[in-house]
Amino acid sequence: METKILYIDEKNIDKSVIEEAGAVIRHGGLVAFPTETVYGLGANALDGAAVKKIFEAKGRPQDNPLIVHISDFDELAPLVAEVPEIARKLMDRFWPGPMTIIFKKSLIIPDETSAGLESVGVRMPSNLVARALIKAAGVPVAAPSANISGRPSPTEVGSCIEDLSGKVDIIIGGEKCEVGVESSIIDVTDYPPCILRPGGVTLEMFRTVDENIYIDPSILNKSGADFKPKAPGMKYRHYAPKAPVRIVQGEPEKVIALINEMVQNYINEGKRVGIIATDETKDRYENGIVVSLGSRSDMDRITRNLFETLRSFDDKDVSLILSEAFEEKGKGIAVMNRLKKAAGFDIIKA
Ligand code: TXA
Ligand code: MG
Repeated sequence: METKILYIDEKNIDKSVIEEAGAVIRHGGLVAFPTETVYGLGANALDGAAVKKIFEAKGRPQDNPLIVHISDFDELAPLVAEVPEIARKLMDRFWPGPMTIIFKKSLIIPDETSAGLESVGVRMPSNLVARALIKAAGVPVAAPSANISGRPSPTEVGSCIEDLSGKVDIIIGGEKCEVGVESSIIDVTDYPPCILRPGGVTLEMFRTVDENIYIDPSILNKSGADFKPKAPGMKYRHYAPKAPVRIVQGEPEKVIALINEMVQNYINEGKRVGIIATDETKDRYENGIVVSLGSRSDMDRITRNLFETLRSFDDKDVSLILSEAFEEKGKGIAVMNRLKKAAGFDIIKA
């Protein structure tokens, strides 16, 4: 398949591009597009055959449901069986934005979209290109992250092209994604609501709406055979660059010393090592290919840079990637969740 790549300026949206891409979705095709979290791969959420093509293009496991994207509040009602009071409060506060809410689904959601579950995840993105596209499509848009299954989600159009060129009808290129990790997922089918995936809306932010909101404990730590997260997608190895990733955790000076020592051992064997560092530490590594995510005082920036940094090691011929750890609070919870999954929970204590 030939993929059309269309660039768009978020500040001056070309209506003809949006109309063309919207029509492709409406008629059962696939369009990759920017959102504020990561690039998404969209299809008509109400068309089972169209949704199937998403699974094929990504190589995605069939039991992993998709998030349905809407462009306005009034598009929610037909998709869900009920809207609990707490969901209204969450929507008022965090939509449009990086939050997906899991509702009991209505009968119009096909099994292909919900992977046979009785629930459906819905999100109203804040990115204006995304919302214009959904509006132009005239249908709710099912969209997973626009990567080959298992790879880090794309936050720049180049990564999207790398993974999906030749497999989708259109790729819309916009700016680098502002948040950089996927939406927070919160399940309101039970009370208190449970966070199934940490993301752009932090636990602290959620608790300003209801202090009983909590994080699904199974996603914070890998717990052998009973590792059964409520979001099916959270059980898969994910966000993985080609080389294995190991996280080094502990007091900063000890982390630096241990990473330097490990890198030296690899170099002695003739191997190259990548290091994911921060502005505060990047000059302290004697060897290895060092990439800084940014300053620890700016977790938003670190979050935004994470996935492209993981991807950047793929063409640097490294045998291993060592990453510093981050404190698990605020955005750090989402960053560590993605890093731990990229590392297959391989954490070394310094
Ligand atoms: O930020 C985002 O959410 C991006 C952009 C494109 O909007 N989309 C995204 O989709 O991250 P995806 O498919 O990569 O991740 C969806 C996650 C998976 O872990 C899936 O298992 C979970 O959402 N999920 C979807 N529907 C669910 C449901 N009904 N119940 C529980 N988990 C659900
Ligand atoms: Mg994904």
